[in-house]
Formats: sequence, structure tokens, C-alpha cells
Amino acid sequence: MNMMEERKKEHVDIVKGYNTKHSYNYWDDFMLVHNALPEINMNEIDTRVKFLGKKLEMPFIIAGMTGGFKEAKKINEELARIAERYGVGMGVGSQRAALEDKKYEETYAIIKKYRVPLKIANVGAPQLLEWRDAIEKVENAIDMISADAIAIHLNFLQEVIQPEGERIAKGCLKKIKEVAESISKPVIVKETGAGISYKVAEKLIDSGIAAIDVGGAGGTSFSAVEAYRARKRNDKLQEELGKIFWDWGIPTPYSILEIAELCKDAGISIIATGGIRHGIDVAKAIALGADIASAASIFLENGMEKMEIMARSLKAAMFLTGSKNVDELREVEIWTF
Ligand SMILES: Cc1cc2nc3c(=O)[nH]c(=O)nc-3n(C[C@H](O)[C@H](O)[C@H](O)COP(=O)(O)O)c2cc1C
Repeated sequence: MNMMEERKKEHVDIVKGYNTKHSYNYWDDFMLVHNALPEINMNEIDTRVKFLGKKLEMPFIIAGMTGGFKEAKKINEELARIAERYGVGMGVGSQRAALEDKKYEETYAIIKKYRVPLKIANVGAPQLLEWRDAIEKVENAIDMISADAIAIHLNFLQEVIQPEGERIAKGCLKKIKEVAESISKPVIVKETGAGISYKVAEKLIDSGIAAIDVGGAGGTSFSAVEAYRARKRNDKLQEELGKIFWDWGIPTPYSILEIAELCKDAGISIIATGGIRHGIDVAKAIALGADIASAASIFLENGMEKMEIMARSLKAAMFLTGSKNVDELREVEIWTF
């Protein structure tokens, strides 16, 4: 196994086997106001949405996680099966491995066997800076999975803790703009657990992108994940750094609140990822101003069952707030403490 394969496998194994969650889940700071007189019938509730031009059965995406090592093919296949069954979107993990070595392509391309209504390709911002042929690589990533959109992930927290991390960020915004202007598919800028601030969103809205995935704090902590990897390598200092930055980042719901109005005015969609556990969190995300919600780590085990719970709890939350459809959910009252 080469280093990248090993790293990809370790990420999945660590998230499945250890506690990698932020110490606090910020969705608990908010409460949807109960409607004791909903005046709707539960069987009339319509959870369907259109997102980036695609029709989804509910406002949900399985966030990109993996690819690039043998077992990843099975994981992506299972996630695609779930996405097809529930009519939700799905992302793959960073496609760097396959863009640099074709033998890994099938670990991502497997999802093409399934009718996933919105497929999202994935590349890292640090790689865009490294690759001389970045636009060509982005196009290859899209073709590899017949993607409907591509996410450019920002993961500088992870890079700073990762023992072998790439800490180059100069020129990122310019590259994102270049990609968004050169390709025909929608571009999503996606944080991976540390959130998007108002100032960053302000910079991004003029870059030609279609959506921002706030990828905020409260769920999987990549600082935690890399702390475990550092420990395995006996790198005590990076392990300590990972512990110090374990809870770093802008919490997902607060990140949405920060940028919602700005993005709405600019016509840019918001994806809420980070700590989403069930349909109540999805409903809260939408009531706070996100267009759609997304979760990653919870689907690594018993994914099909988790999605059923997601669907049922979203519908229940919509019923109990008197929301016949997702547009009405956007208007429900939400309290914070
Ligand atoms: C094992 C694992 C691998 C991940 N790899 C990627 C990746 O390659 N690219 C990416 O954009 N995000 C990646 N993510 C981040 C997720 O898409 C998501 O933003 C993050 O896990 C927060 O969501 P959660 O709290 O529901 O897990 C990964 C997450 C996990 C758990």
C-alpha cells in the first residue's frame, strides 16, 4: 500500500474505531418551535427539492468521504446504493489518488452503476495549486464519475495537523475562480469541519461558484483524526497539536447564520455539513437558511438504516412544525438559548 492509500484507509478506520467528534454538537443550541396545531396531514408532506438543477427526494446529500484504496470501492458502492434508494445526492472523497494513478479510478467510478440524482466530484484546493494542468484534472474528475457538480475542498486545519500535510494556501481563491470560470458544471467550495466566515464568503461570492458547503465544527474533527494518525507514527508534537485544535472552527449552524443573507443575495446555495445526526438537524439547518443538509461519518456503519431514520425524522420534524414542504420549513420559527 502506498502512503496515500494507507492514509485514506486510516481515515475511515479511525473515524469508525475512535472518538473523532467535536466535544460539543452546536445543533443542540437551537430548537425548532413546536406547533401544537400543525393543521396538515403527515402523508401530504412533500420533502422534494431541486438543488443545482437536480431533483432530490429530500434536501440531503451524503457528503464525500472516500476513494483511492481497495475497500473504498465497496464503501462508495454502498453509499451510492443508499443515495439511489432515497433519491438524495452523493459526493465522493478527494479524487487525487485516481487523477494521479488510473488504477484507483474504479473505487470512485463504481457510483456510476447507480441512479444517484446528484453526483458530486471532489478535489482539494491544495492540489489545484500543485497541479500544472489543474483544469484538465478537474474535468477528468468530473468525467470519472459522470458528476453533476464538483466540490473543491478546503482542509487547511487537517493539513496543519497532518504529519505529512501540505501547508500551501497562497493563490487558492484565484485558482477557485479560474476553475469556476473554465468548467461548465457547478462548483461547490466545501470546508471540511472548520466552517466558513462572513469574510471568506464575501471573497467567494464573486468567484463564479454555485454553492458553499459551510462544513462547520460540531461533527467529525479532522484535527482529532490526524492526532490519532500522528500518535500511530510516534509524532508526539503533531499529536499534541491535534489535541489542542480538536475543537477548532466555526460551528455549522453559526456559519450558516453568518453567511445566509449574503449568499441569498448573491444567488449562491448553502450546504450545511458538520454534525448533522438526524432529520431534526436537517430541518434546523434549513430553518436557519441552508438550502440543503449533508452528513458523512454517520453513514460509515448501517448506512441504509441511518438514512431511513434521517428521512422519517425529517418528515416528523416537518409535521410538528406544520411545514407541508421545504419552502414552508424555511419559514418556521427557531429559537436559540
Ligand atoms: C473518513 C472521512 C473522509 C473524508 N474525506 C473527505 C474528502 O476526501 N474530501 C472532502 O471534501 N471531505 C472529506 N470528508 C469530510 C466530510 O465530507 C464532512 O465534511 C465532515 O466529515 C463533516 O461531516 P460529519 O460531521 O457528518 O462527519 C471526510 C470525512 C470522513 C469522515
